Amino acid sequence: MTDGTWSYEGYAPAQERLRESLCTLGNGYFATRGALPECAADETHSPGTYVAGCYDRLGSVVAGRQVENEDLVNVPNWLPLRFRCRDEAGAGPWLHPDTAHVLEHRMCLFLGSGLLERRTVYEDTAGRRVGVRQLRLVHMADPHLATLRTEFRAENWTGELEVESALDGAVRNTGVPRYRDLADLHLVHGHAGTAAPDLFWLRCRTRASDVRIALAARTTCPEATQTYGHLTDRRAAQLLYLPLEEGRTVTVDKVVALHTSRDPAISDPLEAAVDRARRAPTFDALLDTHLTAWDQLWRRAELDVPAEAGRILRLHLFHVLQTLSPHTADLDVGVPARGLHGEAYRGHVFWDELFVLPYLNLHFPEVSRALLTYRHRRLERACRSARDAGRQGAMYPWQSSSDGREETQQLHLNPNSGRWLPDHTHLQHHVGSAVAYNIWRYWQATGDAEFLHTKGAEMLLQIARFWADSAAYDDGVRRYRIRGVVGPDEYHDAYPDSDRPGIDDNAYTNVTAAWVLTRALELLDLLPPPRRQELAERIGFDGGEAELWRDVSRSLYVPFHAGVISQFAGYERLAELDWEAYTKKYGDIRRLDRILEAEGDRVNRYQASKQADVLMLGYLFPPAELGSLFTQLGYSLDDATWLRTVDHYLRRTSHGSTLSGLVHGWVLARARRADAWRFAHEALIGDIADVQGGTTGEGIHLGAMAGTVDLVQRGLTGLETRDDALRLDPAPLHQLTGSSYGFTLHYQGHWGVRLRVFADRLHVTVPASDRSPITVELPDRVVTVRPGETCELLLPG
Ligand code: BGC
Repeated sequence: MTDGTWSYEGYAPAQERLRESLCTLGNGYFATRGALPECAADETHSPGTYVAGCYDRLGSVVAGRQVENEDLVNVPNWLPLRFRCRDEAGAGPWLHPDTAHVLEHRMCLFLGSGLLERRTVYEDTAGRRVGVRQLRLVHMADPHLATLRTEFRAENWTGELEVESALDGAVRNTGVPRYRDLADLHLVHGHAGTAAPDLFWLRCRTRASDVRIALAARTTCPEATQTYGHLTDRRAAQLLYLPLEEGRTVTVDKVVALHTSRDPAISDPLEAAVDRARRAPTFDALLDTHLTAWDQLWRRAELDVPAEAGRILRLHLFHVLQTLSPHTADLDVGVPARGLHGEAYRGHVFWDELFVLPYLNLHFPEVSRALLTYRHRRLERACRSARDAGRQGAMYPWQSSSDGREETQQLHLNPNSGRWLPDHTHLQHHVGSAVAYNIWRYWQATGDAEFLHTKGAEMLLQIARFWADSAAYDDGVRRYRIRGVVGPDEYHDAYPDSDRPGIDDNAYTNVTAAWVLTRALELLDLLPPPRRQELAERIGFDGGEAELWRDVSRSLYVPFHAGVISQFAGYERLAELDWEAYTKKYGDIRRLDRILEAEGDRVNRYQASKQADVLMLGYLFPPAELGSLFTQLGYSLDDATWLRTVDHYLRRTSHGSTLSGLVHGWVLARARRADAWRFAHEALIGDIADVQGGTTGEGIHLGAMAGTVDLVQRGLTGLETRDDALRLDPAPLHQLTGSSYGFTLHYQGHWGVRLRVFADRLHVTVPASDRSPITVELPDRVVTVRPGETCELLLPG
C-alpha cells in the first residue's frame, strides 16, 4: 500500500462487507458501496446506494408488537455489469467470484482522486481466462453522475464475451442482519424503458415517503457487435456482445445519472436523469472534472501527518468528505452517524455531529451552516415534541431523519440472546446541548453573526428554555435537578430496581445544560436590540425567564462520590463488575450490555459504562472552561479531582462505541499522556480493523472518523477560536503525529492559514491577502500575524 491509496489483495468473502464499506465512493449527494458490479445482494455481498436524506417509513411486527422505522433507502443499484464467455456451444456461466475461479483480485481506492480500481482475473470452467480492470467514480463535481469503465482482456482465448449492464430496482434494505425481521421493501411502482439504443432508464417510488427516484444509464463500447435491451418492471438491462482477441483489451463505459423528486431545479426526476445521462461527456472528460473537484477538496482539507497514522487519517477524511461535501451545503440533510456507507442505524442522525462539525467549521463552514440549518428546519417539530412531553422549549430527538420526529427504535434486538428489548435511549435529551454547542462553536470559528442572530438564536434559546423547564428545584439538595434522562453512556437507561426509565442528575447532561443556559444569556446580550425584541416577541420571552435561566445555570446539581464526579445520582450504589473474569470468559466485552442480558443479568446493575460519559466534559471543554463551569455551579473541580475522575471511569468503561476511544484519547492527551495513545490508536483503527466486531460492514463510524482528524487539528493543538483570536496550547502525542504535523484552516475569511507544529515550536502562515492580521494566542504570549507572513513561535518549555 502506498501513500494515498487503500488496497485489498485477494478475494476474501468474509471481508467483503467491510471492504464494501471502506471502498464506498460518494459525493455528499449520494454514495455507493464498493461492491463488485457482477454481484447482487446475498450473504457475502451487500451492494448499496444511498441518497442523502432519502428516507422511507415502514411498519413491522416484532416480538408481537407493531413498530415503525424510517430507513435511509437503498435505491436502485446502478453498478450491475456481469459477463460470460460464449462460443458456438453457447454461453458459459456468468463469472462471479463465488462460483468461478479467481486467479487474481485486487481492489484499490485512490484517496487523492476519489477513484476505485478493481483488477480481477477469472477462469471459467472451460479454462478461459478473462482479465477485468474497472475504474469507478461517483462524480465530485456533478453530484448526479457516476461512471464505471471496464476493460476486458481475453488472456488465453479468442471469442465472444457477453456483457450485461443493468439498473437493478429489485433491491431491499437488507444490509444489516440484525434488522432482518423488519420490513425492508421500500421501492415500489418500478418501471423501465429505453430512451436510445444505448440509453435505458429505471424509475420507482419509495413506499411511504413517495420520493420518485430515477436512474438513466448509457453503456457504450465501440467494438460491441450487437446490443439488446431487456426490461422488466424492476430491472433495465442492456446486453452487449464483445469480440475478444487473445491479449487485446476491449473497453465498456457505463455512465449513470441519478435524480430524485427531492432535487431542486428539475421538473421530473426521470426527464432530468435521462437528459443528464444523454449529455454526459466521455469517461475521460468526466475523470478530468472529477479530479479537479477532488484537488480542490484536498486543498481545503490539507492534513499532513506522517507515516501510517497519517494514511489512516487521510482515509477518514476521505470518507468524511464523501459524506459531507460542499454539495451538502445545498441539501436538507444532517450528519448520518454511519455515513452514506451502509444501513446501520438506518441512516439516522444522532449527536455525532458534535464530533464532525468542529472539524468542518474550519474548512467547509458552508457545510456546517447547512447541517445546522437541517436542525433549524426541525425546530418547530422539536418544540412540538417538548410540548407533547409537557415541557417548554425544544426537545430535539435522539435519532432524527426526515421530519425531525423521534426516530429511536422502540425495541432493539440483542443478537446474543435473540430477544427484542425495550429501548429507552430516546431519553438522551443531551442531544439538544450538542446542537447548541455546535451553533456556538460554528459562530466562534466563522464569526457568522447573521446565522447566530437568526436561526442560531432561535434554536439556542429554545434549547435553553427546554433545560430550564426540565430542571426542578429540589429542597432536599437545594439545587435544580434534571431527572429521568439517559446520558451518553447508554448502558444506564434506568435504575436497576426501578420501573421508571431514565436516571437522574446525569453530570454530563447537567453541566452541558448549564453551559447552554449561560450561552443563551450571553447571546441575549450580544443580539442587536431590534433582533432581541423580535425574538422575545416571537417566542414570548421576558426578563423573568432570563432570571430563571441564570438561577438554573448556577445551581444545577452535579453529584460527586469518593472524590470523583458521579455519572449520575446513585451511581456509587451500583455493583462493581468483575472486569477480569468477564474479559477472561468472553474476550471482547465491548458490548457488555448484550453479554449480560444474554446471561439473564442487566448491565445497569453495574458501575460499567459503554462509552465516555462524564469524561465527555473534558472533550467538549478545554480545562480552563470546564473549571470555570464548575465554579459557576458552585463546585470546585481541581486537577486532582479531574484526574481521579478520569481514572475512575477509565477502569469502568467497555468502549462499546467507537466514540469512546476517541474521547479517551483526547482527554488523556492532556490528563495522562502516557495512556493517550492506546485510546487514540483504538479510534484510529476502529473501522479499518473493524474493532466493534463486524459493524463497519454495515457503515463507517463517521463521528470517530471525523473526530480522529479533529484530534490532530484541535485536540493536540489545543486550538480554540474565540474572542477574535486563534488560541493554541499544544499537547504532544508523538505516536500519532511523529516529530511534526501540519494542516490548513479557513479562519476569519483567510483561506489556507497554515499551521505546522513541532515538538518545541510552531509555525503559523497567513496567506497573502488584503484581510486583517490574525491574532495568535499561546498560554504565555500573544502575537499578530499579518497576511503573507509566517511566524515562528517557541512553545513554552
Ligand atoms: C453510541 C452513540 C452514537 C450512536 C451513533 C451508539 O452506539 O452509543 O453515542 O451516537 O452509536 O453513532
